[in-house]
Amino acid sequence: MRLIIKVFLLQILAFLVFGGDIHCQASTRGLTFVVREASYTRLCSTKNILTVNGQFPGPTIYAMKEETIFVDVYNKGKENITIHWHGVTMPKYPWTDGPEYITQCPIQPGSKFRQKIILSFEEGTLWWHAHSDWTRATVHGAIIVYPKNGTKYPFHKPNAEVLIILGQWWKKDVNEVRDEALATGADANASNSLLINGQPGDLLPCSKSGTFKLTVDHGKTYLLRIINAALQEALFFSIAKHKITVVGTDGSYTKPLTRDYITIFPGQTYDVLLKANRRPDHYYMAAKTYAEVPIAGNRFYDNTTTTAIVQYRGYYTPSSPPSLPHFPAYNDTNASVQVMASLRSLADVEHPCNVPLSTSTKLIYTVSVNSYPCVNNSCEGANGTRSAASINNISFHTPTVDILEAYYYNISGVYGDKFPSVPPLVFDFTADYLPLLYQLPSTGTEVRVLEYNSTVEIVFQGTNLVAGTFHPIHLHGHSFYVVGWGFGNFDENRDPLRYNLVDPPFQNTISVPANGWAAIRFEASNPGVWFMHCHVERHLTWGMETAFIVKNGKHPEAQMLPPPSDMPPC
Ligand code: C2O
Ligand code: CU
Repeated sequence: MRLIIKVFLLQILAFLVFGGDIHCQASTRGLTFVVREASYTRLCSTKNILTVNGQFPGPTIYAMKEETIFVDVYNKGKENITIHWHGVTMPKYPWTDGPEYITQCPIQPGSKFRQKIILSFEEGTLWWHAHSDWTRATVHGAIIVYPKNGTKYPFHKPNAEVLIILGQWWKKDVNEVRDEALATGADANASNSLLINGQPGDLLPCSKSGTFKLTVDHGKTYLLRIINAALQEALFFSIAKHKITVVGTDGSYTKPLTRDYITIFPGQTYDVLLKANRRPDHYYMAAKTYAEVPIAGNRFYDNTTTTAIVQYRGYYTPSSPPSLPHFPAYNDTNASVQVMASLRSLADVEHPCNVPLSTSTKLIYTVSVNSYPCVNNSCEGANGTRSAASINNISFHTPTVDILEAYYYNISGVYGDKFPSVPPLVFDFTADYLPLLYQLPSTGTEVRVLEYNSTVEIVFQGTNLVAGTFHPIHLHGHSFYVVGWGFGNFDENRDPLRYNLVDPPFQNTISVPANGWAAIRFEASNPGVWFMHCHVERHLTWGMETAFIVKNGKHPEAQMLPPPSDMPPC
């Protein structure tokens, strides 16, 4: 009887901590994701979108560090789908990581796949999203990883926590937007609005009642867990008249960094503290696109301002309208790198920095927008060409059998393992004018095989082909240390001397600056097949991706686990 009461009390506690939708039991729990259409009205028009459990943004997964969670994913939609746990490294278990045709074939309509999420060192804010076509525009949600029992945040416990999911809304079906772009070779049409927690905000039509509101008490501190789930846009985020303090990114803590605004690139998360210490009033929090395109009003980026409201509790006459934050100019590239320039990991006893001091495998990968010529310049990309993208000039061709199963079962002809370790052609990558000929990529399904426990350095070099732009590169299966970055061409003699090998940030998505470079280091300690790609969705569609195969180690504990019995068939 005493035991039953104790279990009951624990359940009430779990309810209070995790919210009503989560049943917290022992160390493995089960959740249900039903992927299905639901009708949503935004910007005064209604459309059907694909959702998980009818929710947009989708359900939050609340977890403890090192927990393992099962999610039964039912596809009740009309299209194939896969779900990825972004930032969860899935030790030795790539089977349910999610990228379509990389680690699995898609879950077909009417089918189900039981996915295991294996949390290990990650702590903070991660997220999940569809990893097939462009449905991740609406099929996404947060994964919140709390400290283990008996451990704490490395900052004062906030009074409350708030989830802020940034997104994009198209009046059209997103996959139609994609198909149109692919049919003409053009860049994809910009979204009609940016979103905060699924809402455009009251500066846009028909959005007044739904606008997200955060009520704060003067003097209290709030932990904002911010996710950029937008398909295409890098975003400036700010709260009028308030400073925000970054304390974590991508599921790893950082030294506190206080700023007026942050730039959050697609795929990234930031944990920031907001102190409600201004005059009680209403204030806008807002997000706006950062894009380095030269012409304002370009139809290829969304120039709306999405807003939510921070309202102080109490009696006062609110100023009308609420004040808006000041943002850098939409094309201010220097402003876009301000947070990244100062981001440092904690590197203390409880949060040690394990950056490899030397590396066994050095790779240089160019990340480029490319183009294919069209007869009579009849396509609608730059100068009548068809848009493309590549890494080391290889535009990735997605296979029809997933690479993981091809590797595991020795199926030949699915992929090649000759991904080049340096750019096939060396030129002044960031020059203002480049020969048109260089824009043409080759195509292939090439991966790079890494020895177990090799220490890897990758320098991503942006190029000015077609359009020098930022590329948020995301690696599955590993977090990495961002040891350096800069504008222009990477100099292999001088730049490594300036690497931060003391307290580099530990991330899973690093934005290579427009016409610049970024260097990362990690230990390839996770056997499996791991996707790496630009998190700008159109660049991914155009081919800016590749994968790593990390080989098994000698010891049984260093080997990939066997697949589950319900892998979706190809
Ligand atoms: Cu967030 Cu491969 O993705
Ligand atoms: Cu990109």
